[in-house]
Amino acid sequence: MSILVEARAVSRTLSDPEPFTLVDAASLGVEAGQLVAIVGPSGCGKSSLLYLLGLLDRPNQGDVLIDGQPTGHLAEADRTRLRLERIGYVFQFHFLLPELTARDNVALPMRRLAKRSRAQIDTAVEGLLDKLGVGAQAARRPDRLSGGQRQRVAIARALANDPAILLCDEPTGNLDSLNTRLVIEEFQRLAHDEHRAVICVTHDAGFAEAADRRVRMLDGRIVEDR
Ligand SMILES: Nc1ncnc2c1ncn2[C@@H]1O[C@H](COP(=O)(O)OP(=O)(O)O)[C@@H](O)[C@H]1O
Ligand SMILES: [Mg+2]
Repeated sequence: MSILVEARAVSRTLSDPEPFTLVDAASLGVEAGQLVAIVGPSGCGKSSLLYLLGLLDRPNQGDVLIDGQPTGHLAEADRTRLRLERIGYVFQFHFLLPELTARDNVALPMRRLAKRSRAQIDTAVEGLLDKLGVGAQAARRPDRLSGGQRQRVAIARALANDPAILLCDEPTGNLDSLNTRLVIEEFQRLAHDEHRAVICVTHDAGFAEAADRRVRMLDGRIVEDR
C-alpha cells in the first residue's frame, strides 16, 4: 500500500512570547484505505500536527511528504495547489460560509481549483450532497441546517476535489450520538471503500475504537501508535 501522507520527524515550535513546542519530532505515515484516529488530552498538539500534515503550517524541523514527495521546499503557491488537489479538511466547527448556500459552499473549492466546467461543478456538487444525505438541503444557508446536516455539508465540501487525503479535527465534537455514528460510518466508508487516507482527531472513544489505528499524543509527541 502506498503512503499518501507522512510526517517525518516534524517539530513545530513557537518563540513568541516564550519558547513553546507544539509538535515534537512526530513521525506518522498513513496509507490509502486507512482510518487513523489521533487522540490525546486537550492542548497536546493534535490540531497543530493536523495543520502540518495538511500543509496549512510549516514545520521548523522535519518534513511532510504528500504522495511520497517532500513538501518543505515548495513555494506557497505550489503548496496551495497540492492542498486543493490532494487534501480535504473537516473542522470541528464546520466553517461553512454563512452567506452561501450548502451548494455554493461545496462548489467553492471546485471553483478555486478551476479544473471543471460550470456544468460539471453543478453535477458534482449535487452528487456529493446526495451522497452525504443532504441533497434536499442544497439551497439552504448553514443557519437553516441542523448540526448534523451542517457537518455533512462540511464533509461534502472537504470531498469537493476528490482528495486522496482527508484530515478531520474533532468532526463529531458537536454532534449527538446518532449523527456521531453516521459520521463515523461515513469516514470508514471513505477510507475502506474509497481508499482514501483518513486522519481524524477525536475525543470520542467510540470513534477511536472504530478506527484502524490509534495515535496517541502527549506534550507534542506521539507516544503510542497501534
Ligand atoms: N499560535 C499559538 N500561540 C501560542 N500557543 C498556541 C498557538 N497555537 C496553539 N497553541 C498552544 O499549543 C498547544 C497545542 O495546541 P493544539 O495543537 O491546538 O492542541 P490540541 O488540538 O491537542 O488541543 C495548546 O496548549 C495551545 O494553547
Ligand atoms: Mg485541537
